[in-house]
Amino acid sequence: LKCWAVVPAAGVGKRMQADRPKQYLPLAGKTVIEHTLNRLLQSGAFQAVAVAISLEDPYWPELDVSKHPNVITAPGGKERADSVLSALKSLQGQAAEDDWVLVHDAARPCLTASDIHLQIETLKNDAVGGILALSSHDTLKHVDGDTITATIDRKHVWRALTPQMFKYGMLRDALQQTEGNPAVTDEASALELLGFQPKIVEGRPDNIKITRPEDLALAQFYMEQQT
Ligand code: CTP
Ligand code: MG
Repeated sequence: LKCWAVVPAAGVGKRMQADRPKQYLPLAGKTVIEHTLNRLLQSGAFQAVAVAISLEDPYWPELDVSKHPNVITAPGGKERADSVLSALKSLQGQAAEDDWVLVHDAARPCLTASDIHLQIETLKNDAVGGILALSSHDTLKHVDGDTITATIDRKHVWRALTPQMFKYGMLRDALQQTEGNPAVTDEASALELLGFQPKIVEGRPDNIKITRPEDLALAQFYMEQQT
């Protein structure tokens, strides 16, 4: 069983409204991306971690982790899916078609080793793969404009997290075949468009994505709780 990690880290972090991409903002003594990569590297689950970085990114070469022997840098792309495909291509020749790849957002620094191992153990014999996900505690409404048109049955709705775990060859082919399709907002959606039915594995609620300014304080709180 061989697993590789792919980390899209080429976004600009528009919603964060900071002076630099959010993956380079400080959090508990390090940058966000250093936490994310350290957690992947320290889990011991991966042969290597391929990171997609924007070509104009001046921050990445400054980090020690960019020179880590198990970290491979690939050029980022226009959309997240393009960045993921680029990082997958950088593993060509190393990763076998049937090896597993776990794609994890650079902006999710609170990922635990327990979730990585739970996901791999749960899905390692699956034919397709699947994603970490969270059920919704709130009642969910289908809305048209400002008017409720229906209440959605919560048991059929899950929130997609990362890592998203798929076979190397299958994921590369799916992203290539769906290139440019705006409906591909995560890896699972690319496989779904081709008719596959990925699984969900229930993840931890502290695996948040840093998206808006208030998320940094929340991530710091979760990290303190974890230690
Ligand atoms: N990402 C990427 N390449 C892109 C766009 C996004 O590698 N062209 C990465 C981001 O760096 C992030 C992850 O995909 O780690 C999830 O994306 P998101 O949270 O949307 O980050 P940003 O696109 O940077 O933020 P925003 O949408 O607010 O601009
Ligand atoms: Mg984005």
